Amino acid sequence: MSKQPIGLFDSGVGGTSIWKEIHNLLPNENTIYLADSKNAPYGLKGKDAILQLSIKNTEYLISEHCKLIVVACNTATTNAIDYLRTHYKIPFIGIEPAIKPAALHTKNNAIGILATKGTLSSALFSKTSTLFAKDIQVIETVGEGIVDLIEMGKLDSSEMRDLLKIYLKPMIAANIDYLVLGCTHYPYLMPTLVDLLPNHVKIIDSGEAVARQTKAVLEEQNLINTEFTHPKHKFYSNGNPKIMSELLGKHFDAKFLDF
Ligand code: DGL
Repeated sequence: MSKQPIGLFDSGVGGTSIWKEIHNLLPNENTIYLADSKNAPYGLKGKDAILQLSIKNTEYLISEHCKLIVVACNTATTNAIDYLRTHYKIPFIGIEPAIKPAALHTKNNAIGILATKGTLSSALFSKTSTLFAKDIQVIETVGEGIVDLIEMGKLDSSEMRDLLKIYLKPMIAANIDYLVLGCTHYPYLMPTLVDLLPNHVKIIDSGEAVARQTKAVLEEQNLINTEFTHPKHKFYSNGNPKIMSELLGKHFDAKFLDF
């Protein structure tokens, strides 16, 4: 069982930012990554549609004998992980916007959250936000259009920069000192965000924490791969695999698969 791959899925290429953290921390693990780019963005879909897509991705990964599934998508996690955990036996790791550390550490009592509409309107997000951030100002912004541009390979485009300027403006006006990235596509925007934000603003994403949690669950359930072979990594996109290959860098290649 421990030799079986870790499965990951996202609405598209963004979850590769999580895959990189997991590969970094657990370099001996085999992995399968599904980019459901054909159905991206998930963020503008209703809860039921997000749930059905998450079930489809999960069942494919289970059919590939994955030992654990990382829902490498905030939108799918906040809308579907409870259902997945109840209906499937294997362990699931999810990702949610890291409101808690931002709310605990803010000195200006103002934080920004950039995420999809599906995440910000979810019951899970509102529960976490009420629990940790009810006494501070939270500027929640839907990053509409960002995922679409990344999926089109327009990460470093003037359209992207213009869009980010619009989304960051109210946050800068509110003098935030933390920006929480609530979508796994957004870590790829880091250089542009650093450039556009005042120096004192810290940017938080949950990728590393997800990797640590994945390792902890594998250890706890005796699922760490202890065989020292060359791990295999499969990257599948039902959109344009070239865009995913570019984000993965020169050592890895994505293939088209209509899962
Ligand atoms: N990477 C997904 C997330 O973390 C993007 C969602 C979307 O497709 O809108 O939320």
